[in-house]
Order: sequence, then structure tokens, then C-alpha cells
Amino acid sequence: MRKAELEHVLVQLPIAVCIIDEARTIVFANAAFSGGLTLRQADLTGRLLDDVFPQQIRFLKRKINSVFALKNPSFSYWQQRPHVFPMSSSRPITGDESEMYQNVQFIPLLDSADEVSHLCMVISDVTAEASYFLQQSELKAALEEEHQQLQKLHAELKQAQQQMLQSEKMASIGQLAAGVAHEINNPVGFVRSNLETMQDYTAKLINVMDRQQKIIQKQAEPRFIALLSDLYERLGVAYIQSDLPDLIKESLEGTERVRSIVKSLRDFATYDDEGWVALDLAAVIRSALALLENEIKYKAKVQLELPEQNALIWAKAASIRQLLFNVILNALQAMQPMGLLQIRCTLQQDSIELIIQDNGCGMDNETLSRIFDPFFTTKAVGQGTGLGLAEVYNIVQEHEATMQVDSEPGTGTRFRFCFKAYRG
Ligand SMILES: Nc1ncnc2c1ncn2[C@@H]1O[C@H](COP(=O)(O)OP(=O)(O)OP(=O)(O)O)[C@@H](O)[C@H]1O
Ligand SMILES: [Mg+2]
Repeated sequence: MRKAELEHVLVQLPIAVCIIDEARTIVFANAAFSGGLTLRQADLTGRLLDDVFPQQIRFLKRKINSVFALKNPSFSYWQQRPHVFPMSSSRPITGDESEMYQNVQFIPLLDSADEVSHLCMVISDVTAEASYFLQQSELKAALEEEHQQLQKLHAELKQAQQQMLQSEKMASIGQLAAGVAHEINNPVGFVRSNLETMQDYTAKLINVMDRQQKIIQKQAEPRFIALLSDLYERLGVAYIQSDLPDLIKESLEGTERVRSIVKSLRDFATYDDEGWVALDLAAVIRSALALLENEIKYKAKVQLELPEQNALIWAKAASIRQLLFNVILNALQAMQPMGLLQIRCTLQQDSIELIIQDNGCGMDNETLSRIFDPFFTTKAVGQGTGLGLAEVYNIVQEHEATMQVDSEPGTGTRFRFCFKAYRG
């Protein structure tokens, strides 16, 4: 093939080609190169690359110098430098002209002395591949985000499921408690009644013994008196006489305590989920505290202020109990042992105010603004579902009550509820 024919092919080649000498003068540019440029240039041949591409020349110089110095080809990949030459894509993906993503090869051309006399730049249009690649990356990022959202949702569902399990557990504990309460009530009833009878009998017997002793002291033979007092001493009868009434009294107090626990358990177990009743808030507070006694005992001192009269509100007993549990447990969890838990219920004109205050860790504003969000918790994984206060919020709404929370880090937290008083 003749040189002229070869040059013709080079000129018509759909790939952009530009040849320069060491001084960076353009000695050849094919039609694809000149035609592809967005800058309109009359004729490129004989012009300095630096003048035609002033914005790109710093990068080009680096590449060109390295090729002249090392005699090795160099490459510019679209991902590092997408648009070396200001060209538009010959195959715009969108139908519009788009800026060409390009790979550029810098090829050394050697003379007969094996020196680099010229450098050939071959620019390939990779807009289609690049667009596809970029679309794929965007898709991947979107998928990843979706995946993360699904994972978050999954975690939330898992927590909700735990909460459901918890309430099922509470319900079955409730049933169990009702059964146990019933079973315990009968034996405790007769133990108590027997103890009361024993208390009466013991008082009588001690009385009789006292009198007998006085008679014996006066009228019996000294030998008999000596024998008897020796026996009394050996058996510790005096001690028994003084201790027996105390023992019976303590046992009766014990049965009283069992009775009150059983009552709390029955209250807890027999709540009617749907039933709206005129509820004495003070009584519910007492029963909640009795049920939480074990959690409270080593954690806090309770300062309780309840009204003398009934504090009646129109409410669902189970919900109000749950509200108290959730708020009191949070307060206990926020405290160092032995903190101070203040619960104050007061009757106002048309309302009943309930304040539950702790001197625990408190909350900053950021935390405070999120406490009613379902699943918001600052507790360790598995320790809190973050549903406690969300539930409280719903209960307050349902009862058309109001709630206000004040908290200060390091000082404590105060929940103030205001319920409409029930007037019958
Ligand atoms: N009395 C309080 N003192 C300090 N922080 C509190 C108090 N009450 C609630 N919080 C904060 O509010 C967050 C949300 O409370 P919420 O009762 O809704 O969930 P939880 O206690 O984390 O979990 P769960 O109640 O399911 O055990 C808690 O994690 C805690 O950071
Ligand atoms: Mg909680």
C-alpha cells in the first residue's frame, strides 16, 4: 500500500489521532480529532498544542515529557481523567450531545536512530461504556442504600417482635399470677385465721401460767417450788413467755404482706384490657409500687405523696399501670443506687396531677427530643426496645391527658402528667 493511501486511511479513521513533535507542534490531526473538538479550529497542523489546549496542557505536558524521556507508551484512563480533550461524544447515549469520556494513548514514534521523534495521541471514545459503568455504580449505590434500609427495618421488626413476645410473656405471667394468687389465698387465709386464734390462746395460756405461778409461790412446798423453777429455767420458759406473742405478731404481719402481694398480683392479672373505669390513680400507684418493690428495693428511696381522697380518673386500668411501669422503670434505670424517686399525685380543680421525678443521669436536648420516637433507645443492644415511652405517649393521647418532661443532664428527669378528674 502506498504512503498516500495509508495517510488517507489515517485521516478517515473513526478514532481521533493527533501527532506532535518534541516541541509539541501538531504535525498531523485526523478528521475525527479536528471534527470532534468542541472548539472550532480552522487548521490544527503547525500549531502548538499549548496554544490549542491551554487548559489541558499541564497534564498533557507531563504525559508527553514522560513518553519522550522514557520511550514508553503512556495511557490516560477515563476513570482518572474522563475528558482530556474537549470533544463531544460521537454516540451520545441520551440522544443529546454529551461530553466525551475518553481513554488516551500516548504512543512514541521512533526514528531510524531509535529516538522518539514524534508522539501519537490516540483518543478512544468510551462514553457508552463509561455511562453504562456510571449507571451501574449509581444502581449499586441505590441497591446498597435499599439494603441498609431493609436491614434497619429488619432490626426494627425484630425489636417489635421482642416487644410482642414481652407482652405475651406478661400476659401469660398475668394468667399464672392469677392462678397462683388464687391458690395462695386459701392457705394464707387459714394460716392467718389460725395465727389469730393462737394469738388469743397464747395470751390466755400465759395469763393462766402467771396466775398458777403466783399461787404456787405462795402455797406449794419449797421442794416443789425449787423443782419447778429449775425446770422453768432449763426450758427457758420465761423467755418463751415473752417471745411467743412477738413471734405470733410477726407471723401475722408476714401473712398480711403475702396478702398484699397476692392482691397486687390479682390486680395485675385481672385487668380488663378494654374496660374504661373510674380509676383511683393513687390506688394504681400503690399497686404498681408494690409490684415493682424488688426493682426498687436496692435502687431507690421512694418519696410518695398521695391525696387523702380518691383521685378518680376515667381510664383503662391496664394502660395506666403500664404507663407507671414504663416511667418508673426508666427512672430506676437512669439512677445510681440509691437514688431518690419522688412520686406525687395531687388533686386540682378539674384535674389530677401526677409527677414522677428522679435524680438520675438526665438527658440532653438531643435525646429529649427523641424519647417518644418508637425504637429510640440509648440502652445497649438487647437492653431496651425503645418502645416504653412511645407506649406512654399513646396512653396519654388515648386518655386525653397531657404530659410534660423536664430533664437536665446530671440532675435528673421529671415527668408531669395531667389527667381530667372524673366527676361521675
Ligand atoms: N428518667 C429518665 N432519665 C434519663 N433518660 C431517660 C429517662 N427516661 C427515658 N430516658 C431516655 O429515653 C430513652 C427511651 O426510653 P424508652 O422507655 O422509650 O425506651 P428504653 O427504656 O430505652 O427501652 P424499654 O423501655 O423498651 O426498655 C431511653 O433509652 C433513655 O435514653
Ligand atoms: Mg423504658
